Amino acid sequence: MPKHFLTILDIPKDEAKQVLLRAKEMKDNKVRTDLLAGKTLLLIFEKASTRTRVSFEVGVRQLGGDPVFITSKDSQLGRSEPLKDTARVLSRYADGLIVRTFGQEKLETLVEYGDIPVVNALTDEYHPCQIMADMLTMYERTPNLEDIKVAWVGDGNNMAHSFINGAVTFGYTLALACPEGYEPDKDILENAERLGAKIVTTRDPAEAVRGAHYVNTDVWASMGQEEEQKKREVAFAGFEVNAALMAGAADNAKFMHCLPVHRGEEVSEDVFESPASIVWDQAENRLHMQKAILEWIYK
Ligand code: CP
Ligand code: NVA
Repeated sequence: MPKHFLTILDIPKDEAKQVLLRAKEMKDNKVRTDLLAGKTLLLIFEKASTRTRVSFEVGVRQLGGDPVFITSKDSQLGRSEPLKDTARVLSRYADGLIVRTFGQEKLETLVEYGDIPVVNALTDEYHPCQIMADMLTMYERTPNLEDIKVAWVGDGNNMAHSFINGAVTFGYTLALACPEGYEPDKDILENAERLGAKIVTTRDPAEAVRGAHYVNTDVWASMGQEEEQKKREVAFAGFEVNAALMAGAADNAKFMHCLPVHRGEEVSEDVFESPASIVWDQAENRLHMQKAILEWIYK
């Protein structure tokens, strides 16, 4: 049976720590291997991407494999060839699918009808590769992740959902402040709580950030929600991460953002460009973590 990585919960807890340590080792020692020699990994992207696409393409090459990139615009996917057909065809050519798309159920269709590993490169529901890289970025500063508080300020979106799952696996306390109507999915939250995650939800960004070691946010309108931008700007008023909000966080607290950022919306320019901002390390760590995730799948 091929291994898939659709959400963080697909990696057993004890193995997740090993993946984290391996990503750190890959970073520190600039690891190159031939693990994927002779293997072709298809990147299928139905949404735009800079970091995820490039870090996967480079990462696959650094593990000796060949990445092939396609989009729905320039393939038959854009002309409604069903995913269940696409999955069976691509399984005959390639050794894995790295997929950025809309609904999570599309990945599940690829898993059901294909017979090669499927990796979630972002869906409307989750962004697990990003959060695994963010774990590395936090681990580098605070190795004891069980003892830290992570704040999420803004939309209860794919990033928030993956931070919720990350709280199950890595044991940090997560405080989420989301405006009314933009809370994370109830089932995802309840499932994480049932699995022992320490999570608090509030409407008050100051309460979520109080004493937090890491303060996270993301755009207010994700890919596919662009037409809601104006409506969301109204709903998210008061949810900007700015210097006043950061002042309530722990001493030496860090600001995090998966990027791309909308300066002056979800975060002020001064916080984004401040020494507390670790966004470029987050972006770099995508590469190291993609390699560790691929190793977890293919080793
Ligand atoms: N953070 C992230 O996934 O960036 P891209 O959309 O550029 O891949
Ligand atoms: N929530 C954002 C993340 C982008 C990396 C989106 O889905 O557009």
